[in-house]
Amino acid sequence: MTRLAGSEGPRPTVSPAAPVVEPAKGGRRHLLSVAELGAEGIAEILEVSDAFVEVGRRSIPKVPSLRGRTVVTLFAEQSTRTRLSFETAAKRLSADVLSFSLDTSSVKKGESLRDTVETVAAMGVDAFVVRHTSAGAPAAVARWVDASVVNAGDGWHEHPTQALLDCYTIRQVLAERAGRPSQGAGVGCFVGLRVAIVGDVRHSRVARSLVLAMGSLGAEVILVAPGSLLPPSLEGWPVTEVSYDLDAVLPHVDVCYLLRLQSERGAGAFLPSVREYSTWYGLTARRAGLLGDGALVMHPGPMNRGVEIADDVAALPQSLVLRQVSNGVAVRMAVLFMLLGQAPVPGTGVSA
Ligand code: CP
Repeated sequence: MTRLAGSEGPRPTVSPAAPVVEPAKGGRRHLLSVAELGAEGIAEILEVSDAFVEVGRRSIPKVPSLRGRTVVTLFAEQSTRTRLSFETAAKRLSADVLSFSLDTSSVKKGESLRDTVETVAAMGVDAFVVRHTSAGAPAAVARWVDASVVNAGDGWHEHPTQALLDCYTIRQVLAERAGRPSQGAGVGCFVGLRVAIVGDVRHSRVARSLVLAMGSLGAEVILVAPGSLLPPSLEGWPVTEVSYDLDAVLPHVDVCYLLRLQSERGAGAFLPSVREYSTWYGLTARRAGLLGDGALVMHPGPMNRGVEIADDVAALPQSLVLRQVSNGVAVRMAVLFMLLGQAPVPGTGVSA
């Protein structure tokens, strides 16, 4: 794979909050940011993901592509979807998986993150999948170890595989509606697509990665949020429009992407009350009725039901929340395979 950041490729383009990544040791490649992928890199990952969706439909959804490789999931922040999805992906590729939580490690005895990571790496690790509360932590790990690093969400900065699985899901649904397979569909379906990203943009790494991905692919992005939940500056964000009026935006979008109100990052302090936020920005059944025919409803999870999304909206046929989760396994298989794989995937014609 040519587009993931490594020592031989061009220095990655980084978004304003991203630390510059020094050349990886040993020629390893990383996935730290959507910004480094560009449209071509995203398209390549979506194409490889198609093959792994097919693998996932087999009676035994497993291939030997990463046999003998070791993947560590190093999570310093809570996760359900991302962690289990990466671990499932690695196991379906026949990699050995070490699941590592800082909360139960010797970090609690005062060991530094660097010493911890170098200690785990000394056991023989091919890839670290890193989630951390601090922006830039995965990039720091990439400087310290001779292994590939995947950013599984760092602070307010980025969550690249979430954006990739969201892109994959949109492309898959649009291909199905057109009666075509998504294999070979390319990324032309994103050009001119109108995507509203609604809610707590300020604290959302998902929003940043999704905006960068949609911008690269030619979609129009409308941010809808109260002013207090927008980032202090949108410089470097390829956004078409900012709106404070969700009702006015909904009839004109193809995708309504709802963000979780991130109370653990202090979002509540930026609002008069959660009830008021929900009144103006929550996707209720009435508001969902304003969406055009065929408009998609998405949410990265975990959902705050009754805050940004109503129960009955989450259950609508056009709500893709669980399909996003399912596709996340295939997309993460594609990423791990493209970083670590050597042999072609049996029965798919896909090689790294
Ligand atoms: N969407 C997402 O990152 O979910 P988790 O925090 O459960 O991994």
